[in-house]
Amino acid sequence: MLDNKIEKLLNHQIELEFESSQYYLSMASWAEKSGLNGISAFLYTQADEERVHMLKLFHYINDRGGHALVPTIGAPPKEYKDAREVFTKVLQHEQIVTKEINDLVDTCLKVKDYTTHNFLQWYVAEQIEEERQAQTLIDKLDLIGTDKGGMYLFDRDMETFVSKDAGKK
Ligand code: FEO
Repeated sequence: MLDNKIEKLLNHQIELEFESSQYYLSMASWAEKSGLNGISAFLYTQADEERVHMLKLFHYINDRGGHALVPTIGAPPKEYKDAREVFTKVLQHEQIVTKEINDLVDTCLKVKDYTTHNFLQWYVAEQIEEERQAQTLIDKLDLIGTDKGGMYLFDRDMETFVSKDAGKK
């Protein structure tokens, strides 16, 4: 059986993954409307992945005798200034998720829930990758600056990146 405190924290993690999914979905829609099809495809894929992260938590909580709950969250922002703002927000959001995962891992050790601790290691590794990816994209956008040709190529590269990455997770 899951410790009550751990169950609550895992449900909070569901909320964060759901929030990530909705947030990236909104960004994907904005990018699609802005003619940034590569960035949009990348963000739609990210939104799907976050939903998978959420579902993993649903099954884990219920398999351990807890009750996974569907969260209620507010609507994500609809408008973004540019691609750099989008990926800066992605990075900031992922940093929050990383902090919450780390706190949860810490609590697992405190209550000696080594099974959940083990389950969460996948998320710990995933967070390193997600932060690294967002930072790399911001660095590239910094190099491009206001160069429209550079932005066009960046967006086209993102399209290729998505098709290469498809089905990895
Ligand atoms: Fe599943 Fe990006 O946190």
